[in-house]
Amino acid sequence: MIRMEKRLQLFLLSFTLSLLVSSPPGAAAVQLDPNYYANICPNLENLVRGAVVKMMSQTPVAAPATLRLFFHDCFVMGCDASIMIMSSDGSDEWHNPADFSLKAEGFETVLAAKAAVDGDLQCTNKVSCADILALATRDVVSLSGGPTWPVELGRYDGKVSLGSDVVLPSPDFNLDQLNGMFGSFGLTQTDMIALSGGHTIGASSCMFFYNRLYPGDPTVSPGFLLQLQQSCPNPLLDPNAFAFLDAATPLQFDNAYFRNLQQGMGLLNSDQVLFNDPRSQGTVNLFASNQSAFFSAFVDAMTRLGRLGTKTAVDGEIRRDCRFVN
Ligand code: HEM
Repeated sequence: MIRMEKRLQLFLLSFTLSLLVSSPPGAAAVQLDPNYYANICPNLENLVRGAVVKMMSQTPVAAPATLRLFFHDCFVMGCDASIMIMSSDGSDEWHNPADFSLKAEGFETVLAAKAAVDGDLQCTNKVSCADILALATRDVVSLSGGPTWPVELGRYDGKVSLGSDVVLPSPDFNLDQLNGMFGSFGLTQTDMIALSGGHTIGASSCMFFYNRLYPGDPTVSPGFLLQLQQSCPNPLLDPNAFAFLDAATPLQFDNAYFRNLQQGMGLLNSDQVLFNDPRSQGTVNLFASNQSAFFSAFVDAMTRLGRLGTKTAVDGEIRRDCRFVN
């Protein structure tokens, strides 16, 4: 009898310990779910979308800036809105040169959506900035003519943002380097090509492709080269000079980006290499000829991107102000 009691005590102790180790109070396993806020903040999707529609009506930069913000957030410390944290000593991610060119309109779109969400008393301080960024990103894509999809939710916001943690792909990368970096996050070459299709909207400063213009990179089509040389005579004299990443339809989320690549009209080396390298050319050709195939691969890849490094109540929080840790 005593032995039985002892065994029961031991069992209960180890059970309690295992609970403490695997799920401290308040923690939930990271099981993202599109319906995560169904009871917590039922009107969430409408609130975010309303704010995004308003921002997009005010500036065409809101859409590309938000999409790029999400990518840069997820690749560094996971999708935890750590990219939005501003520290007074300048040690945050945003101050890293790879992030410094992120446009203010992306941050402003998320802050406007957060204000709209918090304005609903049922939702105040209950929705993470990371989830609002993920929803706003889906919305800018679909409102620009791209696909829509159910966004998985339930991320917590990170509490750490360090410029020294920032590692992002370079516009000069070749296919192996692109595959190496995306592969390190469990993303396939097809995911990487579909996500690069995000360059169907937005612009790039001349400094990121200037090395392709003088002397002219032979893989740039001659007409496009001339056009770019006119737009970018000297980035040192004009740091604001830029060109659209998709010269054909820069505001429209479509598959024109891939048709551009077939014509030697990819802006960055990392864009054009996707067509030039025979190992990825087939996928570029597929996406160029079949927009639905691109959209469906983009949705799959965005969903996988959105799962990177998700935080729980253990290592995260619901930030009251997306710019500062609580
Ligand atoms: C494949 C590797 C990638 C490289 C090397 C790369 C590089 C760049 C560069 C250099 C710019 C111009 C930045 C500036 O002038 O401020 C840019 C812009 C942009 N990138 Fe990427 N990027 C990559 C992947 C992605 C992905 C995966 C997405 C999203 C799914 C994305 C979305 C964007 C958008 C929307 C812009 C335009 C931003 C704006 O107009 O404000 N990029 N990217």
